[in-house]
Amino acid sequence: MKDLVRQKISINIDIMDLLNEQIAMEADASASYLAMASWCDQHALTHSAEFFYDQSAEEREHMMKIFRFVNDNGGAALSPQIGKVAHNYSSLQEVFELALDQEIKVTKSINNIIQQCRKKADFGTENFLQWFVQEQLEEEQKMRRVLDLIELMGTDGIALRLIDERVKEA
Ligand code: FEO
Repeated sequence: MKDLVRQKISINIDIMDLLNEQIAMEADASASYLAMASWCDQHALTHSAEFFYDQSAEEREHMMKIFRFVNDNGGAALSPQIGKVAHNYSSLQEVFELALDQEIKVTKSINNIIQQCRKKADFGTENFLQWFVQEQLEEEQKMRRVLDLIELMGTDGIALRLIDERVKEA
C-alpha cells in the first residue's frame, strides 16, 4: 500500500499512518462519550447527558475532518475499529475525570503528530492540525470547569442537581 500511494500523496506517508491512528482515537472518544451520555441519562443527569451526546457528535466530526483530509490529499483513510468501551462509572466526578484524561491523551497525540510533521517537513498537515490544537484547549477547559465545580460544591444531595444544571454552560 505504501508503494502504491507514494507517488500521488501530498502528505508524508508516515504522517498518514499517524493520522489514521488519530482517526481511530477520535472514533474511540466518540464511542466513550456516547457511553457516558447513556450513563448520565440513566442517572437522570439530563444536562450532563446532553453535554456528552454533543461531545460524542463533535468527536465524530473530528474523526471525519481528519478522514477527509487524508483522502483529499491522496492518502488512504482507514475506517477505524472501535476499542472496548466502559459503560459503568461510580459517579459523575469519575465520568468527568475520565473525559479529561481522554482529552489530555488526544492533546498529546495531536502535539506528537505536529512534532513529527516538523521533522518530516510536512507543513501542510501541521497547518491543518492547528485547528485541533485550539479545539483541544477548549475541550480540556470544559472538563476542568466541571471538575472544579464538583470540587467546590461536592455532589451530595441538591449539589449534584445544581452541578448538572451548570454543565449546560460548560
Ligand atoms: Fe477530538 Fe476532543 O478529541
